Amino acid sequence: MKILVIGNGGREHALAWKISQSPRASQVFVAPGNAGTALEAENNIENVDISSSDFPQLIQFAKENKIGLVVVGPEQPLCAGLTDAMREEGLRVFGPSKAAAELEGSKAFCKNALQRGNIPTADFQVFTDPALAIASLQDREDGPVVIKADGLAAGKGVYVCDNREQAIQAVEEMAVEKKFGAAGNRIVIEERLEGEEASVLAITDGKTIVTLQPAQDHKAAYDGDRGPNTGGMGAYCPAPLVDAKMMEWIEEYILVRTVHVMNRMEIPFQGVLYAGLMIGRQGPKVLEYNTRFGDPECQPLLLRLKTDLVMLMEATIDRKLDKIGPLKWDQRPAVGVVMASEGYPGKSVYGHVIRGLEEAAKIPNVKIFHSGTAINENGEIVNHGGRVLCVTALGEDISTAKKTAYEAVRQIRWTGAWCRHDISDKAIR
Ligand code: AMP
Ligand code: GLY
Repeated sequence: MKILVIGNGGREHALAWKISQSPRASQVFVAPGNAGTALEAENNIENVDISSSDFPQLIQFAKENKIGLVVVGPEQPLCAGLTDAMREEGLRVFGPSKAAAELEGSKAFCKNALQRGNIPTADFQVFTDPALAIASLQDREDGPVVIKADGLAAGKGVYVCDNREQAIQAVEEMAVEKKFGAAGNRIVIEERLEGEEASVLAITDGKTIVTLQPAQDHKAAYDGDRGPNTGGMGAYCPAPLVDAKMMEWIEEYILVRTVHVMNRMEIPFQGVLYAGLMIGRQGPKVLEYNTRFGDPECQPLLLRLKTDLVMLMEATIDRKLDKIGPLKWDQRPAVGVVMASEGYPGKSVYGHVIRGLEEAAKIPNVKIFHSGTAINENGEIVNHGGRVLCVTALGEDISTAKKTAYEAVRQIRWTGAWCRHDISDKAIR
């Protein structure tokens, strides 16, 4: 069967790589892909030059090439309804419908669903009028609070504020100055939670939930969780913070209730349900839902997953997840370190030649997933995005996986390349 993966990040490189190992996959296309997927020809992976927002071309390509399974990687096409548009044309798609992707596409929708399902989350209020939002901030005690733009803002529409002044400033940027465009038409004011974060991803067909092993992302740009928020600077899996008992609790009180409340709203959820959790003194609470694999969590997760991913995705589409047995995992932990361009998460300069990739790839137990890379006119691999690579390694324990990942990172260089140096340290402590 031919399979089409939509997207061009490290997540999509990992998805294409894992999917290509399935006995069900004859060929994997990635639209538009990156230099990493372009270089996987030996695994029958091939890039297709169609943007993930060009729905008519994607549909035409899928139909003409008799694609048997479409996998949508990023949130933008999901929230814009690619799954629905493709299903209308008779294609088989792994990913939630546009209505179900609102769980990620609208923070107000998500919070209302969580409240309706009695699912633990921070207290919140939703405002469309910035003046009312500011009045509410002035009414409450001056202290820590979180301000969120309702819509998609590439992880940047969340301001964790220490006091009222910062919070009012955040509302003004989002709702008055429209820093995130229409995403700021509605504002969520949220209680600020304390604790440590974890990512729990599950695959669901709307009936059965199959949880993946817990992972932890590193959202802040710099070591010690300092600096601005990013899309994620590295991840590891499993995350010992979430033990088996807590995982059971999360399944029962968070995931099952979410799938159930979506069914009750007649918006069945099918695909990856990714709970961003804050684990505090009162136990896990939902910070947000994503409706797709996390980037970079996907990279260490898929490096460890032994179960056939295509089989899992087809069982999801056919609502037969109850028929598959327990997932199989490589028992070794995995650590993924993101290498970024100078300036990220702000503006970066692209086009620098990346050296040392082959040497790094020769290190045993290492897999380098590409994110923002491209091939220049001389056939050289260059940086072409803020997050450039996710250098991922398996190890007997987390410290060994970390050591191996950084050994590979040291082989790789381009002008301005940088990374965090403490990925997975929270698990080692
Ligand atoms: P989100 O996109 O909603 O996950 O928010 C991005 C990041 O902001 C999260 O990973 C947390 O680090 C932080 N955050 C979001 N909501 C809260 C909250 N209610 N309390 C504390 N931190 C939060
Ligand atoms: N790693 C966070 C995200 O994918 O949204």
